[in-house]
Amino acid sequence: MPAAVSNKPKHIAIVMDGNGRWAKQRGLPRVAGHKAGVNSVKLAVQYCLEHGIEVLTVFAFSSENWQRPKLEVIGLKQLFFLSLRKEIKNLIKQNVRLRFIGDLTAFGESLQKEASRAETVTKPNNALEFNIALNYGGRWDICQSVQQLAWQVKNNQLEPEQITSELVHQHLVTSGTPDVDLFIRTSGEQRISNFLLWQVAYAELYFCEEYWPDFKNPQMDKAIAWYQQRNRRFGKTQSQIKTSSTENQR
Ligand code: FPP
Repeated sequence: MPAAVSNKPKHIAIVMDGNGRWAKQRGLPRVAGHKAGVNSVKLAVQYCLEHGIEVLTVFAFSSENWQRPKLEVIGLKQLFFLSLRKEIKNLIKQNVRLRFIGDLTAFGESLQKEASRAETVTKPNNALEFNIALNYGGRWDICQSVQQLAWQVKNNQLEPEQITSELVHQHLVTSGTPDVDLFIRTSGEQRISNFLLWQVAYAELYFCEEYWPDFKNPQMDKAIAWYQQRNRRFGKTQSQIKTSSTENQR
């Protein structure tokens, strides 16, 4: 992607699918696929930094992933912990702000501590907001936002009719972050799978065949070039979009 192009996505969200099949093709255990996937995560972070993308959110573990074989869940937990330990220095050096979204309580104390430490030390950073979704589900996110608002109603701090879409948005775990512009899913699957349901309302959905460990810079270039060809109307007509972009240029 040429750096000067203006209509680049602000927020890219990725469902990193196909690690298991990538490993199976090579006769390796599934966890080897996840390990190879970490390398693609690092490349994606680097890519976003180099191209001025503001936010990257990756789906590393869904609330449904607990149903996977026990060994795989243990392997993934270890991988999150070790990758975090190993990469935190680089992320600080690269001026990346790291955030974990999801209910981390299920992951045990050591990962929670490491995650919270990483969030604290990277909080002042502003080159890229890098969100890792762990034990995350889009429906869970909307429920926890609505629960917070329900408590406010119960405590007479809020009237039910004051609940707006903006207010629900403000209580999501991604509060303060722009909505997703480009949603990428690898490995040929074409589903949202309960990822950032509210936040993808107007996202462009890009599906590609590569397994996640094979998703590197050329594949990201292709996804962004595709995005730049899209005609984003946000419910308006094409002529309204043209008029407002001409007005903005004046
Ligand atoms: C989906 O592929 C992938 C996952 C559930 C895990 C993704 C996790 C990583 C890439 C590690 C990221 C680590 C950090 C620290 C961000 P799959 O296993 O469902 O693949 P399959 O559909 O081929 O079986």
